Formats: sequence, structure tokens, C-alpha cells
Amino acid sequence: MSVTVYVPRDAGALSLGAEAVASAIASEARRRHADVRVVRNGSRGLYWLEPLIEVETSMGRVAYGPVQAEDVPSLFDADFLHGGKHALAHGPTADIHYLKSQQRLTFERVGVVDPRSLEDYRAHGGYRGLAAALHMSGEEIVQTVLDSGLRGRGGAAFPAGIKWKTCLDASSLRKYVVCNADEGDSGTFADRMIMEGDPFVLIEGMTIAGLAVGATQGYIYLRVEYPHAQRAMEAAIATAEAAGYLGDNVCGSDKAFRLEVRMGGGAYICGEETSLLESLEGKRGQVRFKPPLPAIEGLFGKPTVINNVVTLASVPIILDRGAGYYRDYGSGKSRGTLPIQLAGNLKRPGLVEHAFGLTLRDLVEGYGGGTASGRPIRAVQVGGPLGAYIPASQLDTPIDYEAFVAIGGMLGHGGVVVFDDTVDMAAQARYAMEFCAIESCGKCTPCRIGSTRGVEVIDRIVAGDARERNEVLLRDLCQTMIAGSLCALGGMAPFPVLSALDHFPEDFAGAADKANA
Ligand SMILES: Cc1cc2nc3c(=O)[nH]c(=O)nc-3n(C[C@H](O)[C@H](O)[C@H](O)COP(=O)(O)O)c2cc1C
Ligand code: SF4
Repeated sequence: MSVTVYVPRDAGALSLGAEAVASAIASEARRRHADVRVVRNGSRGLYWLEPLIEVETSMGRVAYGPVQAEDVPSLFDADFLHGGKHALAHGPTADIHYLKSQQRLTFERVGVVDPRSLEDYRAHGGYRGLAAALHMSGEEIVQTVLDSGLRGRGGAAFPAGIKWKTCLDASSLRKYVVCNADEGDSGTFADRMIMEGDPFVLIEGMTIAGLAVGATQGYIYLRVEYPHAQRAMEAAIATAEAAGYLGDNVCGSDKAFRLEVRMGGGAYICGEETSLLESLEGKRGQVRFKPPLPAIEGLFGKPTVINNVVTLASVPIILDRGAGYYRDYGSGKSRGTLPIQLAGNLKRPGLVEHAFGLTLRDLVEGYGGGTASGRPIRAVQVGGPLGAYIPASQLDTPIDYEAFVAIGGMLGHGGVVVFDDTVDMAAQARYAMEFCAIESCGKCTPCRIGSTRGVEVIDRIVAGDARERNEVLLRDLCQTMIAGSLCALGGMAPFPVLSALDHFPEDFAGAADKANA
């Protein structure tokens, strides 16, 4: 009987040698006349173990990793096809604590199913949310999303249901659903993992959004550096179309929904929703004034729902299991689960989906296992390049939108980047300003000019040139950028700078201070 071996086709696993491992397994199986079926799944998100291969056995799937092509003969010798013992064995995948202790809702199929197989998707609960939605009115779908408490997972955490209701109420013959798959934040990869590992869930979520607001056309605006996700999404869209899940008559309902992938412009600002719309219309990605909101006047001037990949991929489970099921997870006004991406200096980087409420310490010390260098954690940047640097003394902050705002931070898209005690926080502050200067779309002065001046002032402080006066100037400049910028790039780039100044002032000591210390 054929034995199924899963080898991820996830870009992270590929970068670590998964393709060579898949070929080695296939050729070694031929050589030994073993009947092996290799399935290319997504990643389980245990990146320190990638390439993590799994074998379907009588005790469920058994995991081995990190596997390199040269390990393959010894895996066959150890009878891994029946879960045999090997130095790289981790036992049943479902029992690995990192996975077992998570609460995977949005990611429940990622790494489990074959992303190219619609049958596998359906066998694991796929398209049940759409089936429910097809029996509901647009208002009822929107109400369900509202009741679930789902907030946007792209950064601003705006309630998805309110956005959808605004679009539903806007009268127009043409409306759009746009998926923001630009995933520009540092240390983030959740969107990519979904698109590569469970692409049908995004298609299903977007189709439900289309039914809810009355849109018949959807676009996935995809980060240009994600060719594997592009291939996975395009293959899944073609399969869904052929099976009648997309097109002019979705599941025989007489309702239309079509979907296309568009590659992004390759700039961080193209992830900002109005810039994204400009880019999708074929123009330079530059921020639009609001109002009008995109939900009223969006793509080509038509009402448009724009949501992040994780937001849209969370919708099918809400429609399938009900708003209450999703809402029961979480804490305070942060309902449901958040897929958190652990990156930077960590022993166990990866994807952790869990209900809101666990602490940053649970994540970086518990799941992450502390720093890979073995040195103490000094700072954690949460929420991408515009997120504040959180000192070790604040690691007990719960993962909750409001709790992070209370300490001057933000959860953003759930990216967590860890630094040990060798980090130079003045250099990190300078980097934040420089990033803003490089990525600024140039539309407003506080960001365009302010960020360049900010880099210069930080350089003067670090050089020991009139440190106190220049620190006053830098703080003043940051306040001007926060208050006067048109969008959150200029409006939030000061947060990492100010947090570095507030929590790590010793790193800004000028040359003279350092010499005297
Ligand atoms: C500079 C900047 C970059 C952004 N980049 C992204 C991005 O890469 N992906 C994303 O989903 N949202 C990004 N956003 C947030 C979007 O503007 C918008 O809030 C989001 O797409 C809405 O979807 P959501 O409500 O599902 O989060 C960015 C915002 C700013 C200001
Ligand atoms: S804050 Fe920066 S990126 Fe945003 S609109 Fe102004 S110049 Fe453009």
C-alpha cells in the first residue's frame, strides 16, 4: 500500500532545501521499490524545524525535521515510512507541544491539506461557510461578521463588519472586494503561509465578502516578492472556477463572483489601502485623501471592501460555526484568535495562532524559547517597522489591541521581532526614520521632509553634538509627524524612535558621554 509523505512547498521550507528533500525521497523510494506518494503541503509554521516532513502512519502523521536531502537514505534505513525512530524524529505531529497548545482556527488546515486539492479542502471543512452564506441575505452575512467581533488583521484593527456594512449600504451597480496581500511588515509571513498552504480559504472568504456587499469582482493585490503564493493562488482560482465556486453562477446560486491576482508595485506604501487602490488602477502608489472612504468610493471610484488576507481567511469559519463560536475566543474587545509571527533572534521562530490574551512573554520565552544567541532579550518590536520597541520589563503585556495601545505600541499584523542585549537601539531608531524616508510616498511634508531631518538629528545626537538640544528637537519633530502626517507611515514611524529614546536612553549617549563612561 502506498505511504503518503508530506514535504512542504512553502517558500520558507523551499529556501531551506525542501525541493531537494522531495526529489531525494522520490528517487530513494524508487531505488528501494517503496510505494511512496509525496504530497506538497504548506508549512506547519515550525520554522526552526523546516524542512519538516511528515509521514502518514497508523498512529497519525509522524514528523521529522529539519531534514536535508542527505538525511533521506538514513530515514529510509530507520523505516520512517512506518514512523521509525531517527535522530530527526519528533513523534506524532499533533503531539508537538508548539502545535498542540495553539488554538488554530484560521490556520486549521495550513500544513494539513494539499493546497492544490479542492477535494482535500472540502474534506477538511472547506466551503461550508460559503454554503451557509448562500442561504443568507447580504445583511445577515454582514451582521454575522459584526457579531463575531472580527477586526482587521492588516494593521488598523478596524471592525470588519462595520466596513462591510458601509459598502453594503453604498448604492452602486458595481462594487469590488480587494484583498490586501502586500504583507510588507518586517517579520511577518502569515498571509504568505495561508496563500501557499490553504489558498481556497482566501477564495472562500472573498466570495463570502462579495455576496455580503453585492460585489461581483475581486482582486488579490499580492506582494511582488511572493511568486510561490502567486502560483498557489492562480492554480486554486482556476480549480475553483472549473468547479463552479467562482464565475457567473457561484454554486448554481445565480450570483456572480470572479477573482484575479494582481502583482504589487514593490513598495511598502502600496500596502496602505488607498495607495494600493492607486497601484491597482495602474498608477503610482500614492496615498489618497480620506474621505471618501474606500467602502464608498474605492477602486475605480466604486464601493470597495479592502481587507487583509488573514481577515478574509477568518470569515469562512465564522459563517460555518457561527459568530458566537469565534467571539468566544479572545479577551476584551479583541475577539477570536491572532496568528502571531515570531521572528528575529529566537530559538523557535514560527507561526503561533492563539486566542488574544496570552502575554508577549508567553510568546517569546514560551513558544519562541528565548533568544537563539542565548543572551537576554532586550527589546521586542511588535507590529512591523512602525511598531514601538518594547523593553523586557513590559513582556507581561497581554496580546490585546487595547493593552498594546496603552503601552504606546500596536499589534499590527502580529509580527514579533526579538533582539538580544547586543542591539544598538539608537541604530534601530535611526533605521526606523531612514525606512520612513526611503518608503515615504512624498505626498505630505511632515513625512517626506521630517523623516530625512529625523535621520540627521539622530546622527547628531549619537555624535554627541548638542545632545540635549537635539533630543528636544527630535521629540518635537516626532510630534509634528504624528500630528501632521496624512497616513500612518509618517504618523507612526516616530513610535519606534520615541520608544527607543524613552526605554533605552543610554544608547543615545553622545561620543563625549560614552568616552567619560
Ligand atoms: C504604510 C502602511 C502599510 C500598510 N501595509 C499593509 C500590508 O502590507 N498589508 C495589509 O493588510 N495592510 C497594510 N496596511 C493597512 C491597510 O491600510 C488597511 O488598513 C488594511 O488593508 C485593511 O484591512 P483589514 O481591515 O483587514 O486589516 C498598511 C497601512 C499603512 C499605513
Ligand atoms: S505620511 Fe508619508 S507615506 Fe503617508 S501620505 Fe504622507 S508622505 Fe505619503
